[in-house]
Amino acid sequence: MPKPASLRILTVANQKGGVGKTTTTVNLAAALSMGGLKVVVIDLDPQGNASTALGVEHLDNAGIYEVLMGQSTMSQVIQKVAGFPSLECVSSNTSLAQAEIELVPMVAREMRLKEAIEELVADRAAIGESIDYIFIDCPPSLGLLTVNAFAAAKELLIPIQAEYYALEGLSQLLETYAVVKKRLNPTLNLSTIILTMFDGRTRLANDVAANVRSHFPKELIDIPIPRAVRVSEAPSYSQTVMTYDPLSPGAIAYMQVAREIAERGKVKEEDFDSNVVSINYKLKQSGEIA
Ligand SMILES: Nc1ncnc2c1ncn2[C@@H]1O[C@H](COP(=O)(O)OP(=O)(O)OP(=O)(O)O)[C@@H](O)[C@H]1O
Ligand SMILES: [Mg+2]
Repeated sequence: MPKPASLRILTVANQKGGVGKTTTTVNLAAALSMGGLKVVVIDLDPQGNASTALGVEHLDNAGIYEVLMGQSTMSQVIQKVAGFPSLECVSSNTSLAQAEIELVPMVAREMRLKEAIEELVADRAAIGESIDYIFIDCPPSLGLLTVNAFAAAKELLIPIQAEYYALEGLSQLLETYAVVKKRLNPTLNLSTIILTMFDGRTRLANDVAANVRSHFPKELIDIPIPRAVRVSEAPSYSQTVMTYDPLSPGAIAYMQVAREIAERGKVKEEDFDSNVVSINYKLKQSGEIA
């Protein structure tokens, strides 16, 4: 797969729970790594599902919590993911749940992840190494952890589940995006939307796809991720579906989407920027989302 011109940092976010954020994070990361690229996953969710799916240990005193609190650097806690030559993970553990509160009084509380990533990149540069992709898996909320992820990233990737309430809450997510872009991270770009758990046999799923496409023609990846049993089984074997069953429909779809992401590069900022407010307004006016 083509190497990006420079490091791409993608935040995978949607405050709706269970829409496929973690599944998308780990499988895209695995697919890009299998494509020969150097990839890091940051598990920013106290649930720690991304770490589990990658078969990485949740270490009590060596995870993203310690990094955010300034007790460790990312280079100290990053772990190699078994079975992949170029995939690493900064794991999460349950203490991360306290971070949301403990960050509040801290200096530059929204910028701690960004600073930690910059330090990791500098550490690698010092030994002549580079990273191609960093994926940040967010918790299902729009709290300080997610804001840290928005502040640290260059791109926002939103997985949307192809079901009835698909667009509910999207307005709130886009508002957070717009505020962070204005105040903390002007270069953040909503570059990618992926439809997850898609069942092409149902009219509803196709309606949702058409609706999302009409609002986000440039951002939506044409290939939806099918609802597929192997995808949901893989984490219980501490694996991604890319290794658990690489020829299954879910794995093939994630591989195609990863290739598409690698090839399309980042959507030009000017293509999206003027849109975000008007898309949000249109969505609200049409009553499609809360
Ligand atoms: N394409 C798919 N086919 C079948 N099951 C899927 C698919 N994608 C995700 N799932 C399952 O749906 C559930 C939710 O997925 P996932 O954990 O990735 O969502 P999430 O957005 O990260 O959730 P949370 O908000 O709790 O972090 C999981 O049990 C997962 O295995
Ligand atoms: Mg998750």
